[in-house]
Amino acid sequence: MDQLGAPEEMRARSLDARRAGRRIALVPTMGALHAGHLSLLRVARARADVVVLSVFVNPLQFGPTEDFARYPRDLERDRRLAASAGADVLWAPATDAMYPEPPRVTVQPGDAGARLEGAARPGHFAGVLTVVLKLLSVVGPDVAVFGRKDLQQAALVRRMARDFNLPVEIVVAPTVRDRDGLALSSRNAYLAAEPRRQAGAIPRALARGVELFGGGERSAAALAAAAREVLEREDGVTVDYVACVRAEDAEPVAAADAGTAMVAAARVGGPAGTRLIDNVILGEGLEGDERITG
Ligand code: PAJ
Repeated sequence: MDQLGAPEEMRARSLDARRAGRRIALVPTMGALHAGHLSLLRVARARADVVVLSVFVNPLQFGPTEDFARYPRDLERDRRLAASAGADVLWAPATDAMYPEPPRVTVQPGDAGARLEGAARPGHFAGVLTVVLKLLSVVGPDVAVFGRKDLQQAALVRRMARDFNLPVEIVVAPTVRDRDGLALSSRNAYLAAEPRRQAGAIPRALARGVELFGGGERSAAALAAAAREVLEREDGVTVDYVACVRAEDAEPVAAADAGTAMVAAARVGGPAGTRLIDNVILGEGLEGDERITG
């Protein structure tokens, strides 16, 4: 596996690959790799000849009170994991190589980016879409792979690709979960034993939604209220939102069908604790996702 830094180097490497007629896949990440990221690499591997993993903690998508400074960074570990998962190129640009000066032209997500995560984290999706457009522009992949764990992010990236005629296929891969059902996240590293235990209420709440849906409940409000109740019963958990949305574009729905996702955001470890997000497709259930075993 090659490790590249400067965007020019990455672009040159992609050009060579493309000239040789090879298909390129990009998996964008902020590092602190876990089995969820590695599953995206496997999806990429199956769809391309050259798999590029980018590791870049994007300052633009963090709010002023968020965890940019303390976000977990361990490039050496990421390098080992990426190599063992079959990445061909690890691209880890420096912050000032990506942003030699603060960008003045940015991608704005519109009203679809102002709901849910966008409401809780103003400017977040503009930061995400801006960096994703830059990563796509430098790498020029045929396919880019994102996780459904960040359902609204994936929906907005897909929409950006469509609205800007980007010559890339956006693939969205299932969520990888821990043994108790908690979605893997780099932020799980922040959790002490007690908040980690509380976090188990998130997949339980989603499972409650799936159960009611399976029993015939179709009212989005009723499904969300039942899931919220599971979260609110758990001490130390503060609910931010629970909602039913269309999985493809994260638009709110009033009546659920099999393609509806229930999305949730909550803090564990008290109201100032770690903020976690998750979702489930009601017609699939958590069993449709991958589970870490052992
Ligand atoms: P990051 O949180 O590192 O996630 C990188 C990719 O991994 C995203 O597409 C995310 O949805 C996916 N992912 C995270 N947890 C997952 C899990 N448990 N199972 C499957 N996939 C999972 O998302 C970002 O970084 C950034 O916003 C980024 C897109 C890189 C732009 O900076």
